[in-house]
Amino acid sequence: TGGTVVSATGRGAADVLIDGETIVGVLEPGSVLLGTNLAESADTVIDATGKYVIPGGIDAHTHFELPFGGTEASDTFESGTRAAAWGGTTTVIDFAVQTTGTRIQDGLARWHAKAEGNCAIDYGFHQIMGGVDEDSLKAMEGFAAEGITSYKMFMAYPGVFYSDDGQILRAMQKAADLGLLTMMHAENGPAIDVLAAQLVEQGKTDPYYHGIARAWQMEEEATHRAIMLADLTRAPLYVVHVSAKQAVQQLAWARDNGKNVFGETCPQYLYLSLEEQLGASSDEWGAFEGAKWVCSTPLRSREEGHQDHMWQALRTNDLQMVSTDHCPFCMKGQKDLGVGDFRKIPNGIGSVEHRMDLMYQGVVTGQLSLERWVELTSTTPARMFGMYGKKGVITPGADGDVVIYDPNGHTSIGVGKTHHMNMDHSAWEGFEIDGHVDTVISRGKVIVDGNRYLGAKGDGRFVKRGLSQYLI
Ligand code: URP
Ligand code: ZN
Ligand code: ZN
Repeated sequence: TGGTVVSATGRGAADVLIDGETIVGVLEPGSVLLGTNLAESADTVIDATGKYVIPGGIDAHTHFELPFGGTEASDTFESGTRAAAWGGTTTVIDFAVQTTGTRIQDGLARWHAKAEGNCAIDYGFHQIMGGVDEDSLKAMEGFAAEGITSYKMFMAYPGVFYSDDGQILRAMQKAADLGLLTMMHAENGPAIDVLAAQLVEQGKTDPYYHGIARAWQMEEEATHRAIMLADLTRAPLYVVHVSAKQAVQQLAWARDNGKNVFGETCPQYLYLSLEEQLGASSDEWGAFEGAKWVCSTPLRSREEGHQDHMWQALRTNDLQMVSTDHCPFCMKGQKDLGVGDFRKIPNGIGSVEHRMDLMYQGVVTGQLSLERWVELTSTTPARMFGMYGKKGVITPGADGDVVIYDPNGHTSIGVGKTHHMNMDHSAWEGFEIDGHVDTVISRGKVIVDGNRYLGAKGDGRFVKRGLSQYLI
């Protein structure tokens, strides 16, 4: 009661009535029905005066327990979804993994086994295809029935996940027939691998050179190629973790020319830069400190203006969503596999806990409206990935996934402060947020109440997703 309900299209004073797991009413404050004040007669009343009431965050890009570079992402479904909940995210979509040479069905079964009974919040899966062959093309026909209506291919990582252009073309043809959404890791992997090997031969082995090898030209080129293959096959395309200004320009050009393409960026590409990674150094790690921010696509140069361009693109709808690409690795025993050779640093940054706060800073600094904040972090993810109506909106019939956000609260990010991810460091150490996730309700159950965690593993259920609303 008493809060300002914010949706992708507006805001207003309203009380939200939840019965069991479901929202049953969005009422004028003080609404009376059959002589009873509806909100006050509820079993539980939460006072949201002075706060925003928003649909629970949807992080459509996480990697819990992802095998990568001889190790495995350090958050389990249990620890990762708990951290997500702390940060106001009530649904995640993780990636079931097929690596090159293994069977897709086995990967999906393994992911269900990892997640089931362990999640604090609802979860869905995209399918990673590690290459394309007759078996995987056939398997695609069964995706939608499993509630998996989107799948990811990689133009990078030869030998692990990589698909060549012919493979991509065949999968897109199939996806266009089936109404599946193709997600693309758009970087020219074969060329990057050559550049990386040349740098290492020259003794340039520090983490910073990861970003030099993965130059923006590699992202722009692959983004353009993916757009053209998608256009030819009439498959809708969603480019993940966009970080280069030039890649956004490709997407903007494609959209201006009527192509059905979309792009996601991540908080790291809005806030962090290659220059800061170069400058990073600690007593413990020296220049290897920069490994904390090794991810792909890489952090980009601030001098070149990539970060400002990402914020602009979020405003102008050249980019439509913000996900985290949460892929956490500890420094000790994981990232340090790459001491002396940046190619061996497992790629990824952990942010699942901080996305709602970090994006709210865009509202505080005047870069985004409140409505756009909700749209980028919840409503569009629900529509893009076939969950809208149940998720992404506060309306009767929707799941009771609601976050009460306090604009006058404060959040200090860092290990020992706000840090529930299973990592020995934070890529966001020292960030101070004007705002705070106050209360998190997941399908009608309060799972975060101020500084108390009331969730439990097993509360979260698998979400069988429908087709994307963005198909044409
Ligand atoms: O560095 C990253 N992004 N690791 C996760 C794998 C991927 O490509 O999304
Ligand atoms: Zn990727
Ligand atoms: Zn990813």
